Amino acid sequence: MKKFNNIFTPLTVKTMTIKNRIVMPPMGTNYGGTNGEFTEEHIKYYEQRAKGGTGLIIIENVCVDFTMGSNGTTQIRLDHDKYIPGLYKLTERLHKHGACASIQINHSGASAVPARMEGRTPVSSSDIPSKTGGAVPRALTKEEILDIVEKYAAAAKRAQMAGFDAVEIHAGHSYLICQFLSPVYNKRTDEFGGSIENRARFARMIIDAVRREVGPMFPIMLRVSAEEFIEGGNTLEDTLEILQYLNDEVDIFNVSSALNDSIQYQIDAMYLEDGWRSYMAKAVKDKFNKPVITTGNIRNPQVADDILKEGKADLIGMGRGLIAEPNWANKVQSGKEDTLRKCISCNIGCAGHRIGLNRPIRCTINPDVINEDTLENRKVNKQTNVVVIGGGTAGLEAACTAAEAGSTTFLLEQKAYLGGLAREIAKLPAKDRINDFPDYLINRAKNLKNLITFTNTTASVELVENLKPDVIINATGSKPLLPPITGLLDRIDKQEKIQSIFGLIKNVEMFKNLDLKGKKIAVVGGGAVGLDVVEFFTEKDAEVTIIERLPVLGRDLDIVTKVQMMTMVEENKVNVMTDTSLLEVKDNSFKVNRDGKDQEIEFDYGFVCLGMRSETPILASLQEKFADTGVEVINIGDSLRARRIIDGTQEGRYTTINVLEKLNLI
Ligand SMILES: Cc1cc2nc3c(=O)[nH]c(=O)nc-3n(C[C@H](O)[C@H](O)[C@H](O)COP(=O)(O)O)c2cc1C
Ligand code: SF4
Repeated sequence: MKKFNNIFTPLTVKTMTIKNRIVMPPMGTNYGGTNGEFTEEHIKYYEQRAKGGTGLIIIENVCVDFTMGSNGTTQIRLDHDKYIPGLYKLTERLHKHGACASIQINHSGASAVPARMEGRTPVSSSDIPSKTGGAVPRALTKEEILDIVEKYAAAAKRAQMAGFDAVEIHAGHSYLICQFLSPVYNKRTDEFGGSIENRARFARMIIDAVRREVGPMFPIMLRVSAEEFIEGGNTLEDTLEILQYLNDEVDIFNVSSALNDSIQYQIDAMYLEDGWRSYMAKAVKDKFNKPVITTGNIRNPQVADDILKEGKADLIGMGRGLIAEPNWANKVQSGKEDTLRKCISCNIGCAGHRIGLNRPIRCTINPDVINEDTLENRKVNKQTNVVVIGGGTAGLEAACTAAEAGSTTFLLEQKAYLGGLAREIAKLPAKDRINDFPDYLINRAKNLKNLITFTNTTASVELVENLKPDVIINATGSKPLLPPITGLLDRIDKQEKIQSIFGLIKNVEMFKNLDLKGKKIAVVGGGAVGLDVVEFFTEKDAEVTIIERLPVLGRDLDIVTKVQMMTMVEENKVNVMTDTSLLEVKDNSFKVNRDGKDQEIEFDYGFVCLGMRSETPILASLQEKFADTGVEVINIGDSLRARRIIDGTQEGRYTTINVLEKLNLI
């Protein structure tokens, strides 16, 4: 039997035959035009995933009722016939590559994006916001409900006319249908509220109206949040009951989970295992005996194949996995799974951009989400030597890019291993998925014959000069930022009790084995790194205090990680001290100031995580040596300014291409 045979077995549902079991689930992108139309880059983005072998692509949630149902700053619309031609161009392009296409129709209700609402009050089943701090909606009248039902039906008909093979109704993730299904939001006392049958009525009406429009043989998919993971919300058992009322006329169940306030189980946090949610899909499949999709951190082909083999699901949803690696299916089918660029579930470029910042989606590890082949047919026009100093992720991306463009590339790394800070952070148990990125880069580098890597090699001006560079790329990373606070420099990472993030990483095995129950841990710095430290110690049942100068924790976090971290802080009763400044580091305590009063925060272990700063040991000497020689010296990644991995990846790719272009080498 062929490897991963279960993945590459076709599936027929009514008029749709999907060539394999890999499904791209819907994911908002902010690639649409301002009027809700498809743009060429948007089509290209989906086309890449079709070209990469994906069996079924479900286009991101589209608006059935503009403006009241809007979601996303430039969400695609399907509320008018004028959108049909643009969508047809898309389905045509996907079909050319053998992919099937579905589209998710949606009304966001209380989750409508305020920027598009022009001051109107959003609607819902009742007047409950769809997330903590969200807008208070008003309850829909019965007349309005009936009107919205017809809008779903009209949108589904347009989808069929635009060449889609199926349509998906979005009944999960805190959008309007979910706002009726979930007791968290639905407080109605009429025939649309109260009992499960009543809460399911709106969805039932929509499914029936859609069926009426699309005919008996057109597949209808339904996406649900099977477990809502919120106190008082639907459990899997509740959902199985709800689906009894919705089952007729649904052809595929797309089994998702969670609400806005539990978004870490919807756009899965990094620590959740590949396929952890498949038990929900199995329960739906067992009860209704219809094809089901499971999704959630599935990146590993063996896990995907096992889920199918064990009958837990019929189709594998791979969302962010396909943002990061559009060629997932083709690579796996052709036995090249060791070259997969596996999504690390960081949520920074995708969810962070789309949901938190109104930006178009990008990816931490894939510098070119839309085009993929940035360097196709672009090779250096003469012998070119590129020297890259620093084998972290930015340096590795730069070295691979330069070598793929045909330059003879030398990568110099001081340590015995490549991967830099990403490798260090990945030593924390909740972060080990990050290893997949350096693994991918190192594997890519190994396959490039013109990329010569030297580990255990400290770069010097002489060494670099001997390599006769045309371009020098400095990617020497960063080190902890240690402001001149009394007692800090003398103690940090010098005394066992006071450490930086690197101290924790270095001693992580020791801390894992220690009984820390009830021990006092104090962490200074409430950014991403400080919260990682807090997460580590709350799992060990320690008593944790976090000290932050700003009024809030996690200001720089993406939306998913923020919800995850705030839940972790609350559930573990972490002592949160915001608006608090560190004054002095002592042997067993931090002296801090809060509300104008000085206090001592005692600890068994104290951590200071105040950020990172760039490290550039030989950059100035290189700039001086190569000034006016025609050799370009550039600085990228954290050694330019300490930031996130995504910035280094972007610079590793594009700064490298730009400099080769500037020198007329490509
Ligand atoms: C940027 C982004 C946008 C998303 N938008 C949608 C959406 O429009 N509709 C939907 O049902 N789910 C949406 N999701 C959830 C995904 O479909 C998917 O269930 C989730 O990312 C988990 O799967 P994965 O681990 O394979 O990425 C979105 C996820 C991301 C990252
Ligand atoms: S940004 Fe992070 S989570 Fe999103 S697709 Fe890329 S690697 Fe995955």
